[in-house]
Amino acid sequence: MRVVTFACQKGAAGKTTLVGHVGVQAELAGAGPVVLLDTDQQGALAEWWNARQPERPAFAHTFIEQIGDDIARLDELGFALCLIDSQSAVSAAVEQVIAVADLVVIPCRPSPHDLRAVTKTIEMVDNLGKPKIFVLNGATPGDTLTADAATVLSEAGAVCPVHIHNDPEFADSMFGGLTVMEAAPDSGPAKEIVELWAHLAGALDEAAASQRPGPFSAAS
Ligand SMILES: Nc1ncnc2c1ncn2[C@@H]1O[C@H](COP(=O)(O)OP(=O)(O)OP(=O)(O)O)[C@@H](O)[C@H]1O
Ligand SMILES: [Mg+2]
Repeated sequence: MRVVTFACQKGAAGKTTLVGHVGVQAELAGAGPVVLLDTDQQGALAEWWNARQPERPAFAHTFIEQIGDDIARLDELGFALCLIDSQSAVSAAVEQVIAVADLVVIPCRPSPHDLRAVTKTIEMVDNLGKPKIFVLNGATPGDTLTADAATVLSEAGAVCPVHIHNDPEFADSMFGGLTVMEAAPDSGPAKEIVELWAHLAGALDEAAASQRPGPFSAAS
């Protein structure tokens, strides 16, 4: 089972929105079974999942103290992908959910405040030696700020070429426990999430390959 943690110190960056959307899209794309974990005390992801009718992706309860054991159990149960939502903080709890990840997705809004705030998250991920990818969320079409933000972030790591634009459909669909792919499958936001997952799936493959021990690293 592969584990992807969504982390960003800045509030409202889009962590919960993207965990829900990527989880559903990964299932739709056949990368499941997917299980979601909510490690934010606000419980927004859990509440969204409780409002859902579709059973997939699955949701599992966990506590930070037992997250390693819970992930091992979910792996044994046959889940292929685990997505973890985290709190907007730089804390020991966030460090623990980054530590169990194969890939860390860092959503970031293209704004000066968000770009400044993301530095602490980058430090934490890099200190733990985890592969990471930035996803620009809440972008305005044609805005030079998004391209500028991508340039700034690219100095710290890979930036997803798929930008998620600001669209009320993201919030509207989640009110009903759904996602844009389910509520408005032909919409622009739905197409963005399809492309986002396609790119993240590739990044996850690369991350897994880079973390795999090489032929000469298993010294006797
Ligand atoms: N691309 C988008 N377009 C429009 N609204 C968005 C978009 N992404 C997120 N939102 C909205 O912005 C708000 C914050 O998003 P979200 O809750 O996903 O962020 P978060 O990083 O999980 O925040 P928190 O710090 O509260 O955990 C929500 O109301 C959500 O519906
Ligand atoms: Mg959240």
